[in-house]
Formats: sequence, C-alpha cells, structure tokens
Amino acid sequence: MVLGAGFGGLEDTTRLADEFGDEVHVTLIDKSEAFEMNDNISRRCGGAVRANQQQAEAWNGRESAHFVDHADRYDRQLEPFTQALLEWARLEGHHVVLDVGCGSGTSTLAAATRAGRVTGVDFSEPLVELARRRAQDAQIGNAEFVIADAQTHQFDAGTFDLVISQFGLMFFDDPVAAFTNIRRALRAGGRAAFVSWQGLAANEWLTLIADAVRRHVELPEFGGLSRGPGMFALAQPDDITTLLGAAGFEQVACHSCTPAIILGGGGGPDDSVDFLLDMGMPKGLLGFVDGDSRDDVLRTVRSELKDRYHEGVGIHLGAAAWVVTAQA
Ligand SMILES: C[S@@+](CC[C@H](N)C(=O)[O-])C[C@H]1O[C@@H](n2cnc3c(N)ncnc32)[C@H](O)[C@@H]1O
Repeated sequence: MVLGAGFGGLEDTTRLADEFGDEVHVTLIDKSEAFEMNDNISRRCGGAVRANQQQAEAWNGRESAHFVDHADRYDRQLEPFTQALLEWARLEGHHVVLDVGCGSGTSTLAAATRAGRVTGVDFSEPLVELARRRAQDAQIGNAEFVIADAQTHQFDAGTFDLVISQFGLMFFDDPVAAFTNIRRALRAGGRAAFVSWQGLAANEWLTLIADAVRRHVELPEFGGLSRGPGMFALAQPDDITTLLGAAGFEQVACHSCTPAIILGGGGGPDDSVDFLLDMGMPKGLLGFVDGDSRDDVLRTVRSELKDRYHEGVGIHLGAAAWVVTAQA
C-alpha cells in the first residue's frame, strides 16, 4: 500500500507504485490527514521530522536533476513568466530584493540587472551551486545566494524592499508560517510579486497528457492549498488572497498571465517531446497508467505534440500562471 499526500506527493506516489508494481494500491489523502500522518511519524521518530523535509529531499535529489541538466532550456521555456514577473515587480536601481525559491538563479540574475542588490534563497544545494556559477560567469556582482528553508530561515527583519519568486512559493508544508516569515523580511510598505501556476485545466502543456491518461483511468482532483504542497498549491486566487491576508499582506491582486510557451525552449520535435515527458509533473501523470495503456498515452501525446511543431521554432503550447502582487 502506498500513500500519496496531496499533489506534492503525486510523483513520489506514482514512482513507488512503479517500483513495486501490481501489488500497490495508490491512495491520495488530503492535507489534514497528511499532517496527522506526519505528526505520527514525527512522534515515532522522536520529533525528528523537520519542516518541508519531503520537499527538501526531493529538491536536493530527483526534482533538481532535470533543472540542473537543462537550466538554459527551462529559462527559455519560462521566459514569458520571467518577463511578466519583472514587469509587475517594478524594480528600481536602489531596491534590495529577496528571491524565494530562486533555483538556478534565473529570476535572481534578471532582477540583479535592474535592482541594487538581490539575495536568492533556496534549499536545493545543486540548484544554488549552479546559480552561483551562473552569477560568476555573467560577472553579476550584486547577487548572492543563501541555502536555507524560506519557511523557517531567520531573515533579518525589515531588510528587503521587495520579495519576488518565480514558481518557488508553492511547496511549503505550513504556508501561513512561511509567508509570515517572508513578510517579516520586508520593510514596512515593502512589496511582494510572485508567479504561481494556475490549475492543471488551464495549462495546455499538461492537459494534453492528462486528457490522454483520462481515456484509460480516472485522475484525482489536483491542486488547491488544502491538498498540500505542490505545483498547483497556489492555483486558486481565493486561496492566495486568504493565505496572504493571514500572513499579514495587504492589497493582494492576482493577474492572469497566459502566454504560449516553447516546449524545452525550442529544438526538434522528438527532442522537445522527450524534454516534456522527462519533467516532474508529466512523469507524475504518466505514473497513473502502465502497460498497453501507457504505450497508448505516449503514442497519443507524441502524435498530438508533433502536430504542433513549427519548423525552426519548436512546439508552442498554452500555459497559465498568476502574477501575484501584494504589500507588506
Ligand atoms: C519550480 S522550482 C523554481 C525555481 C526557479 N525559481 C525557476 O523559476 O526556475 C521551485 C524552487 O523552490 C525551491 N523551494 C521549494 N520549497 C522551498 C523552501 N521551503 N525553501 C527554499 N526553497 C524552496 C526548490 O528547491 C526549487 O528550487
């Protein structure tokens, strides 16, 4: 029996199911059950389970590997969101900025070209190492990186004019504690601007796979804050507004951003499809099917994606995120 907690647990769950084959039953549970389970485990381990342990392990292992290996391709694929984030952040040359969940440093380094000083924080050592190398290679001297959990790290209070994040704020096991901690790092009147994915249904680059999987099996409902940490935890504007309000932010606004992205940042048709199928969420979705069903899903997805290939450019697909702005 394998237990998958919330959407953040989906990939782990399906991977375990893959490993153990037919004997496995996958049960997705909601966040309150997940916390109860964590408490039980924590008690049995003498309280040794720390905040965001599962996510920290994932982002220091398999989740970061694809990002590290293909950082430039991810940058090109996510470029429209980086641009939207920079636009809404309204950075100025004197701003002191914190980039949470900075990963390989894309938004940190982009912000550093417009702001006074930028600190990227992330608990993934391989990604921060890469971010530091990229800063050095680009000779960007006003960006620094800290390896830490943003939910619990003791930032100097009132230090930053602005907190930004590109898809780095959806993975907290206690979002109110995390956003409260992050707000504490902002000076009075400081601002936040961050990007989080809209739901699965709004993201064509994933619905294509989800729809093919659904022809064989039912998929559970994904996303929303109540289902725990994961890619779609901040997909609902109501959740975002309530969460940020609880953490002390004001004037919360969610701006819809729906560009077409170029899969893998461009490349040949086979190579672009391979890139997609190797990403965490697509792999999680594919984990719901096996045998002939899986072969059929892969055939369908490959053929539909190749139909969208533009010679010399790549595969264009619709994507949707919120750019959230708020004031401390
Ligand atoms: C989807 S990646 C985005 C990375 C980068 N911002 C980008 O756009 O390429 C999410 C990032 O958030 C980081 N992260 C998740 N939870 C975190 C936490 N509690 N503290 C610090 N970093 C965290 C992960 O390590 C990962 O690098």
